[in-house]
Amino acid sequence: MIRSRREKLGVHTLIRGDCTTVLRRMPSQSVDVVVTSPPYNLGVPYRTYQDRLPEDAYLDWLEDVCTSLCRVMKDDGSFFLNIAGSSSQPWMPFELMTRLRKLFVLQNHITWIKSISVGEITYGHFKPLNSARFVNRNHEHVFHLTKTGNVPVQRLDAGVPFTDKSNIVRRQHITDRRCRGDTWFIPYETVRSRKEKFSHPGTFPVALPEACIRLHGLRPGGVLLDPFMGSGTTLVAAERMGCVGIGIDTDTSYVNVARKRVRAAIDHEDED
Ligand SMILES: C[S@@+](CC[C@H](N)C(=O)[O-])C[C@H]1O[C@@H](n2cnc3c(N)ncnc32)[C@H](O)[C@@H]1O
Repeated sequence: MIRSRREKLGVHTLIRGDCTTVLRRMPSQSVDVVVTSPPYNLGVPYRTYQDRLPEDAYLDWLEDVCTSLCRVMKDDGSFFLNIAGSSSQPWMPFELMTRLRKLFVLQNHITWIKSISVGEITYGHFKPLNSARFVNRNHEHVFHLTKTGNVPVQRLDAGVPFTDKSNIVRRQHITDRRCRGDTWFIPYETVRSRKEKFSHPGTFPVALPEACIRLHGLRPGGVLLDPFMGSGTTLVAAERMGCVGIGIDTDTSYVNVARKRVRAAIDHEDED
């Protein structure tokens, strides 16, 4: 078991430690929103974490983490769980969700599209798959879990402008925004080297936690937790949106990267 180490950076808290232990020590009902992406058990080469557990052990572990998350979340909180399967393990996210039914209501199921082809034109980036059986996987899941299934969401704040502006008057909308629905096209920023990828093999773009924060309507000062912080993307979003971030990761070097990124966000330095 690793000893945890916590540090304050502005209003945020970065913790180097095992989230199963750290979460057990956190007060109940202290978190407004959780946005996280746990390891997917697909053999991703993290620096220290071994991403290849027997399936039942993996599911038991994540169920245990999610039980703690349910306890630390407020009753009107939101848990945005980003996860993906692979072509050879397509059921994994659904197996996990079946287990989580006893803890949460699946309030919204969002599909995060990383790359899409419309007609002959492709938008976004994808990891090419060389296979005679499978098509490329260009999407991941974002499961929006709540305790009651009845947490109001800010559809317009998280929404998009109308393409056809005549709809605004014709349909008596009060603002040039509509709900963007349950398919979110959020491409990765273009990166060419591992260094540019913050030395982490599995990050999500800052725009993803930002969209979750908007959809929940988390106000400045609200508490946002990422128990699998990695390179600190969720905390960067927290800083940009005036929220109080708490991030946990077992790996010292990822916490170091997160610290740098959160520091740069506090100093308004551009990442790109
Ligand atoms: C998919 S990555 C998260 C990436 C993050 N969303 C980002 O944008 O950088 C999962 C992270 O979980 C961390 N991790 C694995 N086991 C952990 C545990 N028991 N407690 C906390 N973090 C853990 C890994 O070190 C890895 O950085």
